[in-house]
Amino acid sequence: MKIFIDSANIDEIREANEWGIIDGVTTNPSLIAREKKDIKQLIWEITEINKPVSVEGSSKEADGLIKEAGEIAGWGRNIVVKIPMTPEGIKAVTILKNYHNIKTNMTLVFSVNQALLAAMAGATYVSLFVGRLDDTGVDGMQVVEDIIKIFNHYHLKSEVIVASIRTPQHVTEAAIAGAHVATVPFKILEQMFNHPLTDAGIKKFTKDWEEIEKCAKK
Ligand code: E4P
Repeated sequence: MKIFIDSANIDEIREANEWGIIDGVTTNPSLIAREKKDIKQLIWEITEINKPVSVEGSSKEADGLIKEAGEIAGWGRNIVVKIPMTPEGIKAVTILKNYHNIKTNMTLVFSVNQALLAAMAGATYVSLFVGRLDDTGVDGMQVVEDIIKIFNHYHLKSEVIVASIRTPQHVTEAAIAGAHVATVPFKILEQMFNHPLTDAGIKKFTKDWEEIEKCAKK
C-alpha cells in the first residue's frame, strides 16, 4: 500500500517527504484555505516533490470541470485533478481520460456503487472517505473492503484511496483490506511512529551505552 500525505502545509509535506515514506499528496479546498496563501503558488511549491498531487477546483458542471481541470493541471508537475462524485463529475472524468489524458481523483465517494461508477468512467483514483462514513454510523472500513474485493474481482484499474483517515488504526485496516493508497494527515503519520516499548527500549539501551563507555579503553 502506498501512503500519501493529506495536507496542504508545505512544512508537513517536506518533512514527510524527507522521511521517504510518502508517494503523493492529497489536498482539498478546506486544507488549502487553512494555509492562507495564493493557491497557484502553494500548489507549485507542493508539486516540487515530484509525486502525484491531488488538487480540487470549484466547478460543478462537466464543461466547467473539464476547463478548470486543464488549468489546474498546468499549475505544476504530476497534478491529479479531484472531481466530485456527481453525474456531471462522472461525465468530466470520462472526457478527461479519453480526450485530455488528465489524471483524476474521484472525491467524496461514500458507497460501493459510487466507487463502481468512478472506476467505470476511468478515474485514476477513487477516494473513499472512511472517517466521515464512520461519523454517520456506517462502518467505513467495511465499505473499503467491499470496494477492494469488487475492484480485484473485475480487474478494475482505478486505485482506491482510503481518505478521511482519523486514527493510525484506520491505516492498518486500510492495508489489511488491500487498499492501494491511504492518504494520511501529518498528525496521524507522526502517531504511526509511536510505541511505548520503543521508547522504553531506547532509554534502556542509552543507559547501557553509558556502562559500555565507562569500560571502554581510554
Ligand atoms: C482526501 O482526499 C480528503 O480530502 C480528506 O481525506 C478528507 O478528510 P476529512 O474528512 O478529515 O476532511
